[in-house]
Amino acid sequence: MRGFTLRRGAALAGAVVLVMLTSPPSYSQEPRVIHVTAERFAFTPSHITVKRGTIVELRLRSEDTNHGFHIAGSEFNAIIPKRGRGDATLIFRADSAGHYTFECSKMCGAGHTIMRGTLTVEE
Ligand code: CUA
Repeated sequence: MRGFTLRRGAALAGAVVLVMLTSPPSYSQEPRVIHVTAERFAFTPSHITVKRGTIVELRLRSEDTNHGFHIAGSEFNAIIPKRGRGDATLIFRADSAGHYTFECSKMCGAGHTIMRGTLTVEE
């Protein structure tokens, strides 16, 4: 399991910079576990709100085929396995307040391009 730091780079005009940690992070708090389901062509929930500083553990599961989970503007990308093949886990610290778009990054059919959602990091 890898840790990620979610930052909003001031010089990147709203782009997201994910900083991978080279060693397992030692958390001073328990991660907030959020279960997200992917199913053609939506994520549930599609709007996620966390407080700044929260360590977020996303557990991504599919109800049908493979999907992807990409935070726009970042290099971070996960493949969500088919239904019954387990889930993908993403851990990051939400360091910067803002609105971040996430989107499906694996072609999954006609509605692939509208399969997206929002992550809001509140102050
Ligand atoms: Cu789901 Cu593409």
